[in-house]
Amino acid sequence: MVDPMHFDARAEIYERARPPYPEALWRRLCAVGLLAPGVRIVEFGAGSGQATAPLVEAGAEVTAVEPGPALAARLRARLPSVRVLVETAEAVALSDAAFDAAVVATAVHWLDLDVVLPKLHRALVPGGRFAVWRTVFGDPTARTAFRDQVERIVARREDPPRRSGPGELDTAAWARRLSVGDLFTEEFTELYRWSVDFSSDQVRDLFLTFSEWSAAEADAAAKAVDELGGQVTEHYLSWLILMKRADSSPA
Ligand SMILES: C[S@@+](CC[C@H](N)C(=O)[O-])C[C@H]1O[C@@H](n2cnc3c(N)ncnc32)[C@H](O)[C@@H]1O
Repeated sequence: MVDPMHFDARAEIYERARPPYPEALWRRLCAVGLLAPGVRIVEFGAGSGQATAPLVEAGAEVTAVEPGPALAARLRARLPSVRVLVETAEAVALSDAAFDAAVVATAVHWLDLDVVLPKLHRALVPGGRFAVWRTVFGDPTARTAFRDQVERIVARREDPPRRSGPGELDTAAWARRLSVGDLFTEEFTELYRWSVDFSSDQVRDLFLTFSEWSAAEADAAAKAVDELGGQVTEHYLSWLILMKRADSSPA
């Protein structure tokens, strides 16, 4: 079973190894008015602040909900203006109509949406926005020699970790899941394709942050980079689903 505290146990590596989100995603959030100076945003599963930092830079007032104490400490040190609540999204207490928007960056698959969606509906103002995005580490449309090696490493797993909920590429299923109960309606879904170069050490660190990957597997990925000349270009895909709070709940 995957462990939600995996990231907290690797907080220092997480902060330096995880790449940021693509510029196009931030531009879109600004263009639709979700991100602007003074907007009150609650972020669930903030980690060490990979998404939180650009929110703060854009002038938002951010409340970050992060259950991992080591990650929360890093977030506080990195972004002192952020109110950090060391809680799960399911357990945290939020005041009614306290936020203009909510965001979840590569963390929606860790949340119990049956609990979180009604809580968030209460915590947002009428017309509030809910942006959910996620990076898929390995764009299936971009084959590379390194990705072939990654697939070989994963295929050797005897007991692959399982997780409930839609697959990471199934945006339509995620949009349906976020619409359950008619508390939120989908505005749009978008995909952003981008790439980043990594050394073998950077690949080892990054893969250590993935909850399904063991240390031996991360070492094998780093070795594959060395065998391919010491540097690889990784092609990633980030998706964004923008939801809007439905203003009247079903009877
Ligand atoms: C893959 S990390 C993403 C962190 C950060 N948002 C980012 O973009 O790098 C998933 C995060 O969700 C957090 N998390 C796991 N279960 C959670 C829950 N029930 N409520 C809130 N956060 C949770 C983890 O501690 C971790 O920080």
